[in-house]
Amino acid sequence: MTAPLLDARSLTRRYRLPRSTLLGAAPVLTAVDNISFTIRAGETLGVVGESGSGKSTLARMVMAFERPDAGEILFRGDNLHALPAAALRHQRRYFQMVYQDPFGSLDPRRTVGWSIAEPLRAIGTDADTARRTAEALEQVGLHPRDGAKYPHEFSGGQRQRIAIARAIVTRPALLIADEAVSALDVSVQAQILNLLMDLQDDLGLGILFISHDLAVVASICDHLLVMQHGKALESGPAAHILRQPAHTYTQTLLKAAGVST
Ligand SMILES: Nc1ncnc2c1ncn2[C@@H]1O[C@H](COP(=O)(O)OP(=O)(O)OP(=O)(O)O)[C@@H](O)[C@H]1O
Ligand SMILES: [Mg+2]
Repeated sequence: MTAPLLDARSLTRRYRLPRSTLLGAAPVLTAVDNISFTIRAGETLGVVGESGSGKSTLARMVMAFERPDAGEILFRGDNLHALPAAALRHQRRYFQMVYQDPFGSLDPRRTVGWSIAEPLRAIGTDADTARRTAEALEQVGLHPRDGAKYPHEFSGGQRQRIAIARAIVTRPALLIADEAVSALDVSVQAQILNLLMDLQDDLGLGILFISHDLAVVASICDHLLVMQHGKALESGPAAHILRQPAHTYTQTLLKAAGVST
């Protein structure tokens, strides 16, 4: 077996909360509590859990936006949070984020082509930006000409395709999708999930797929991590967990999502 693309080891992240009294110690919230997982090329790990369970905090650490208080993340063998700035900047092209709300993350005054090319500018590549942008648009089922249009000219599903184009324009090895389809209608959700799976097949992407909706996660993930209050309640092959959830919490999520077991 090949080495994992991403190897997260015992990640912990604590936040200091505002003091409730002047003299008392500031309370500490452990948002992510000793979480470990791996993702290989071509594999999708689904992370599920209710609101506040620590999913986005986990994503921010994997994106190296935030440092863990304990534990480490090996990305292609490198300890991500120990890399010098220049080396981290070099690695950034290989892991990219797909956000939930493309309307919020696309600049309304810029053409979508400009926004798609943004990660290329951020990593300071000398690649042919126009050609890469056109290629990314085609990969997500849009036309290269769409790059000249503005965000308001697209539907929600198309905007999510644009967000995905922006995430793959640097030719990453890993995508981190945090509630990437949660704002979409169910039929459009299915199209975007299919697109992600097609891209995964074509590009061999590893995907960290975060959702509060177990039905969505169950439809595309090989492996599952169920989180509650920052802790991993259970993890393993998705088919196994869906068939035999060990935890009543997971059973509740399954019921809520209408997934039959
Ligand atoms: N910067 C911060 N400072 C203090 N507390 C934080 C901070 N970021 C997150 N938290 C807290 O950490 C916990 C986990 O938050 P997180 O956003 O990771 O959850 P989530 O699973 O992504 O939730 P959702 O499904 O609503 O997106 C929450 O209790 C949240 O209030
Ligand atoms: Mg979140």
